[in-house]
Amino acid sequence: MRKILAICFLLIPAASLHADEGMWLPSKISGRIDEMRSMGFMLSAEDIYSEDGSSLKDAVVLFAGGCTGELISDEGLLITNHHCGYDQIQAHSSVEHDYLTDGFWAMTREEELPNDGLEVKFLVRMEDVTSSVLKGYKEGMGEGKRIGIAERNSAKIIRKAEKEGAAYEAQIVPMYYGNEYWLFVYQVFSDVRLVGAPPSSIGKFGGDTDNWMWPRHTGDFSLFRIYADKDNNPAPYSEDNVPYRPKRFLNISTAGVKEGDFTMVYGFPGSTKEYIISDEVEYIAEKSDPYRVALRTLVLDNQKSEMDKSAGIRIKYASKNANVANAWKKWQGESKGIRKMGAAASKRKYEAAFEQWASSNGKEYAGITEKLKKTFSGMEDYRFAAEYLNEVFNAVELLGFSYRYVNSDPETRSTVMDAFFKDFHMPVDRNNFSDVIADCEKAAGEEFMPEYLNGLLSVYGHDADSLASFFYASSVFADSVKLKNASLQDMENDICYRLSESFKDFLRDEIMPAYLEGRKEMDLQYRTYMKGIMEFDSLRAFYPDANLTLRVAYGSVQGYSPADGIWYEPVSSIEGIIEKDDPSIYDYDIPQVLREIYAGKNYGRWESGGTVPVCFIATNHTTGGNSGSPVLDGNGNLVGVNFDRVWEGTMSDVVFDGSLCRNIVLDIRYALFVIDKVAGASHLIDEMCIDGD
Ligand code: ARG
Ligand code: GLU
Repeated sequence: MRKILAICFLLIPAASLHADEGMWLPSKISGRIDEMRSMGFMLSAEDIYSEDGSSLKDAVVLFAGGCTGELISDEGLLITNHHCGYDQIQAHSSVEHDYLTDGFWAMTREEELPNDGLEVKFLVRMEDVTSSVLKGYKEGMGEGKRIGIAERNSAKIIRKAEKEGAAYEAQIVPMYYGNEYWLFVYQVFSDVRLVGAPPSSIGKFGGDTDNWMWPRHTGDFSLFRIYADKDNNPAPYSEDNVPYRPKRFLNISTAGVKEGDFTMVYGFPGSTKEYIISDEVEYIAEKSDPYRVALRTLVLDNQKSEMDKSAGIRIKYASKNANVANAWKKWQGESKGIRKMGAAASKRKYEAAFEQWASSNGKEYAGITEKLKKTFSGMEDYRFAAEYLNEVFNAVELLGFSYRYVNSDPETRSTVMDAFFKDFHMPVDRNNFSDVIADCEKAAGEEFMPEYLNGLLSVYGHDADSLASFFYASSVFADSVKLKNASLQDMENDICYRLSESFKDFLRDEIMPAYLEGRKEMDLQYRTYMKGIMEFDSLRAFYPDANLTLRVAYGSVQGYSPADGIWYEPVSSIEGIIEKDDPSIYDYDIPQVLREIYAGKNYGRWESGGTVPVCFIATNHTTGGNSGSPVLDGNGNLVGVNFDRVWEGTMSDVVFDGSLCRNIVLDIRYALFVIDKVAGASHLIDEMCIDGD
């Protein structure tokens, strides 16, 4: 019997013994290091995070406030995703210089393109400041006092931290719903130039069809360079700036990965909600996600039918379309995944066990789940209205534009207008208006719609399409010439501006107060609940929800089974690109040069097993914001760049399933292959440290 047990034990793959769930705070990684080492990590906790000297954290940046990037040369060269640099690549593009289609490669430093407003932030240090933030607060003083004290103390701590260095920015972030407070100090660089981007047929290969999907073949990367002043300090853009010499950059390994290999993702995950109660989980899967998906389907169809008509419209809407499509697809996967896991039901069981424990042990947490449920049910309709009406507002571009235009400084109005009309195509917006307003009547209903809109609809016999025709024919905001000549009064009386204002007012006065009140109440209750489950579930290692602060996720390269009878291998190669290649489909029409390289098998040093590896998947727990994150091997070498998750696992923002949740990684060898062989930019390869030289 003993023998049998031992054999069975050995048969279990090593990785299944480990929890891959978790986004851990780097400064506390010593608590996880034994498990990491047992999975193949060879370095120490100080190699990951240290405040003296340099550690891997010094090679990682928050890119453009929502993605991650990492340094790969001692001259400030940075790699992130193509979709993270997409706005910049698009902003430099026109029909004459279509960098989206053709790619962009600076062959000299002079050709590197500056980007207004683009920033990267290095984390200088992080610190648990809970006791300093709550200094002076005593249990029982009440929440109002607690907030006031925390705000005053935080402001002081932040002020002090920002004086510690040049261009420092500090922030205090609550963790575990305010059971802890953490200080993050960043150094901010604002001269960041575009160095290279593959054509979209590589960087966005497979487009929105392949987005969130495995098997994947997207070369989702772009290169930037950080510039600093002559003393290596952050400085606004200047011709005199020089490439930044980072404290640390990553070595690249071309050894590649295989099933079971250790991987670690080091980056800035944006937002997760792992500890919410069952009712909220159910709301996401059954209401919030499905309704927003339905609305975005209308928008995407309208964009698509116009984009197919001309290259000009396609370029104008490329970035907008990708943004709308991205969450649209994710929400579908998320809702499906939550249902498949029966997540609401298992949370319900967990809550019952917790309550049972709390009441039988006389804990102060007893009854907190019921309170949360009650608060949630009181605010649910308002939360839905807030989410849904924002979607409606954003779906009609003219609404946001009229609001921005009227409320901007008259001197900057012409810039606001030019930027808007550069990427505006009225038929898309008109059709969106008609479709989403009709949907809004059904989904939200009169009670949750601005009165002005209800009035307009009743004048037009509840026919959103005729309202749309009138709207776009009569609004001055739909016509740049009319708008230039419009007086402030014309604008303020304009149907579009009035509708826009009515949305804003309605949200501000009728929806947000109840929603925010409920949110506040719930956050407070979650603070108690969180503290309670941490005591109840004392053997479980809790990580704080993602909140755009630096985290470590570790796991291993693993395939998965998306459905009965299917097993997905964890690595993809250039063979798959050729299989998908189809000149008649925009998203699958690869550059001719790639076909030629393939035909001649001219892979150079990027060849492995007769092919070029392209992407791989692993069990790292990641989310939006982790895009562009370095994926490191056991020695801390860069083996890939994170860019996505598999569709069947997108519920990991709410519940993690180790058998389905996989992050998708660009194999660094494919990026190097593209830079070298497709772009002929070997001067960039020369800057990097690859396999130790
Ligand atoms: N799904 C990835 C993320 O969430 C990539 C998005 C960009 N790509 C796209 N085809 N829309 O950001
Ligand atoms: N593509 C996502 C991003 O922009 C990462 C995918 C995810 O949500 O995990 O951060």
